[in-house]
Amino acid sequence: MPRKPLYKTDLGKAYCADSLELLPTLPDASVDLVFTSPPYALHFKKEYGNADQKDYVAWFMPFAREFKRVLKPDGSFVLNIGGSWTPGAPVRSLYHFRLLLALCDELGFNLCQEFFWYNPAKMPAPAEWVNVRRLRVKDSVEYIFWLSASKFPRADNSKVLQAYSKDMARLIKRGIKETKRPSGHNIKTTFAADKGGSIPPNLIECGNNESNSRYIKESKRNGQKVHPARFPAELPRFFIEFLTSPGDLVLDPFAGSNTTGAVAEKLGRQWIAVEKDQSYAMDSELRFGEVDESGVNGNGQLRLNLG
Ligand SMILES: C[S@@+](CC[C@H](N)C(=O)[O-])C[C@H]1O[C@@H](n2cnc3c(N)ncnc32)[C@H](O)[C@@H]1O
Repeated sequence: MPRKPLYKTDLGKAYCADSLELLPTLPDASVDLVFTSPPYALHFKKEYGNADQKDYVAWFMPFAREFKRVLKPDGSFVLNIGGSWTPGAPVRSLYHFRLLLALCDELGFNLCQEFFWYNPAKMPAPAEWVNVRRLRVKDSVEYIFWLSASKFPRADNSKVLQAYSKDMARLIKRGIKETKRPSGHNIKTTFAADKGGSIPPNLIECGNNESNSRYIKESKRNGQKVHPARFPAELPRFFIEFLTSPGDLVLDPFAGSNTTGAVAEKLGRQWIAVEKDQSYAMDSELRFGEVDESGVNGNGQLRLNLG
């Protein structure tokens, strides 16, 4: 029995449902990109509930089986997951590595590449180990695992080029002589050719503040709580442009405030968002009101403030 979306846009559908019930209604091999950030196995749990570290892999695998089934053979599954600490000691949990091994060993996903989201604005925690006893430093990165059933999923890094650094721009202007680096790399004159931008690294640096967005402003005005664990629009923007084309279908099965759907819409991709909490799902529609000052810039890239 097809489910009714909570709301629809030109390109997408948002469902208020448990993904374990909704995903089985989607056809096999129909999705180009699963981009998501599930509840992490946090020691200090968020209000929407988080599985324990010891149960995390068992909790996640039924979702992952569905992701694999609905993905096209050349599609990608991109998972943003934060690290965690073991209870009572300044020792890191290995839960996300265990999950990665299970996804690859048990479900046959390939790890195409690991990325790191560096959030300079992340708060120091746990306070006991970082601020009080000063035994550990601030944990400022989260993992982003790019997985695929195929060893060659669709990908094109020329769609996510970055502005050249000042040094590189100078090299391009002046040109360079052929030389051999101490590392053994041969630098050819073509190294200084203008290729439209630099190839991005697997470190994505961006804060997590969207204080000016329509979603935040309207939530506050209506006295609604903003989602406590939104990711910045830059994360889905990067992977949607890197791994999909306009018209493709992007799925976020733990959609929260539906940042992924809003970015997909602005980039001309179809999207499906699934969020089981009714108030998060309902409030996420605020992202699709009138266009505010944010949007797609001259390079076809999104600014971070999404409405
Ligand atoms: C980390 S948040 C995602 C936030 C989102 N990336 C954003 O930018 O707003 C994870 C979300 O998954 C939702 N969730 C947890 N279990 C779920 C399930 N079985 N089906 C659908 N959503 C679920 C939680 O309610 C929570 O809102």
